[in-house]
Amino acid sequence: MSRKKISVIGAGNVGATLAQRLAEMDLADVVLVDIPQTEEMPAGKALDIWESGPVYGYDSRVVGTTEYGPTSGSDLAILTAGVPRKPGMSRDDLLKTNARIVQSVTEAVARTSPKSILIVVSNPLDAMCSVALKTSRFPKNRVIGMAGVLDCARMSAFIAQELKVSVENVQALVMGGHGDAMVPLPRFSTVAGIPITELLPKQVIDRIIQRTRDGGAEIVKLLKTGSAYYAPSAGAAQMAEAILKDKKRILPCAAYLEGEYGIDGIFVGVPVKLGAGGIEEIVALNLTAQERIALQKSAGAVKELVAALQ
Ligand code: NAI
Ligand code: 2OP
Repeated sequence: MSRKKISVIGAGNVGATLAQRLAEMDLADVVLVDIPQTEEMPAGKALDIWESGPVYGYDSRVVGTTEYGPTSGSDLAILTAGVPRKPGMSRDDLLKTNARIVQSVTEAVARTSPKSILIVVSNPLDAMCSVALKTSRFPKNRVIGMAGVLDCARMSAFIAQELKVSVENVQALVMGGHGDAMVPLPRFSTVAGIPITELLPKQVIDRIIQRTRDGGAEIVKLLKTGSAYYAPSAGAAQMAEAILKDKKRILPCAAYLEGEYGIDGIFVGVPVKLGAGGIEEIVALNLTAQERIALQKSAGAVKELVAALQ
């Protein structure tokens, strides 16, 4: 049986770290792609990752390129291409610039790997998923956004730290768009099955919720240049594993909703079942009125971004 192939588009901080993680998991061969202006950078990073194989004991072949030929027939393509916000650039400018980039890379992937599943990482995440869905014309189950796994990982880390327990016992849930209005859900966040609402006082939970919402900004403030990439690449790798190993894991991902949770025609983070078919099921949770309102508010913010693209 031939090995699976994953293309990682964008060989920057998230893309290159993700390629390393995928190779170390021995999940598939990896093709790392960037733009011609980056010259031989993707080839250099890929060669460096591949040469770590004998030490780590993986056989994944990792190659870097500025062309799409080597990506053809990929099982999975993970889109991390984009530009960060520069001084003087408005949120709308960034939105439109990254939308153009996501559109062009999606066109290339859809042409060369028409049966692939797309995981979108580029920001603003939920709006970029809409661009990828529209451009690829793939069925909605094959276009999935990575953000919820990251936001939940952050919340889980904060809960574990607060309670001084292993992160392995913590399962947090964050729904909604990947923005300031994201919806961390304490009722569905548990430690060894016990909701954190039973374990922590309200003011501590509120602090954890706010730190989760500010998680991306907290890293940007520390790094000064660029944004988070270790935890984001870990999130994308976990989704890739669930799909390529057909694990049927329930993970929070941006999914195209058509009426679920009262939301229609946009991508929003919800719990989904991830397997060989991509999104195989959207998990319907019974939300309280307050939780539902928070989710609607977050979906409203995504809708505004998508509308700004028209
Ligand atoms: P980066 O700037 O380090 O890397 C981006 C790479 O994309 C650069 O190497 C650039 O040359 C490349 N690129 C630009 N246009 C391209 C094109 N047309 N084709 C192929 N490659 C192209 O940025 P980083 O830190 O890797 O972040 C990448 C994206 O992921 C950003 O949009 C960032 O905001 C987003 N992100 C999203 C997260 C999430 O939770 N969804 C978490 C972390 C980052
Ligand atoms: C984050 O949450 C930048 O979206 C990215 O770190």
